[in-house]
Amino acid sequence: MNVPQHIAIIMDGNGRWAKAKGMPRNYGHAQGSKNVERICEDAYKMGVKYLTVYAFSTENWSRPAGEVNALMKLLRNYMKTCLKTAEKNRMKVRVIGDITGLDDDIRNRILELEEASKNNDGLNFQIAINYGSRDEILRAVRKLAEDVKEGKLVPEEITEQCFESYLDTHDIPDPDLLIRTSGELRLSNYLLWQLAYTEFYFTDVPWPDFTKEELIKAIEHYNNRDRRYGGVKEE
Ligand code: FPP
Repeated sequence: MNVPQHIAIIMDGNGRWAKAKGMPRNYGHAQGSKNVERICEDAYKMGVKYLTVYAFSTENWSRPAGEVNALMKLLRNYMKTCLKTAEKNRMKVRVIGDITGLDDDIRNRILELEEASKNNDGLNFQIAINYGSRDEILRAVRKLAEDVKEGKLVPEEITEQCFESYLDTHDIPDPDLLIRTSGELRLSNYLLWQLAYTEFYFTDVPWPDFTKEELIKAIEHYNNRDRRYGGVKEE
């Protein structure tokens, strides 16, 4: 099996999964959070080198305050436990998104985790928090415009490669496979630039039920695709 180097995941369906069990939505998020840890390990053991998950979008702030607080609490706790798992599994963690919009304590835990794991040579794990692709692109454009204004580069030097170096995902290869769980067929403002040539896999399985077996199915599906990149397929 040809294992994709980089898998991106939209972890959808925590709320509906919990509701179907007669439980509050936040229970779904808590189980979803545990599943993140399992899938990180499974993916890495299968040979995946980069995994990028959508944990909290710029649009998620409009959810009821109780749910936003519960998600922030989960992320806070996750950053703490991740410090240990990252050390154990040699995982290198990077948060993408605008972390200036987060509470000081979460931001500090993120910086601590990134710093502590920066030299690890295991799974490269990206967590999107307060992330929106349009916001990421606008932040990149603003920074680029500043650099042009300061004479650090001229507009003619702005190639795709140059632009990518301003994105939160700089130095990370584009995803080969995008997985979205729980039946919706949308990108929801996720990695719009980076997914230009990515294969998409949609499944009805809600995120807390997305197991290693489901991951294998997604990778098998990816293997059966004809990856052309707009060119002619090699025979
Ligand atoms: C979508 O489910 C999921 C989210 C908005 C958040 C995803 C967060 C986690 C899996 C937990 C925290 C993450 C980490 C990395 C520790 P939904 O609420 O939209 O479900 P629904 O579509 O059924 O309502």
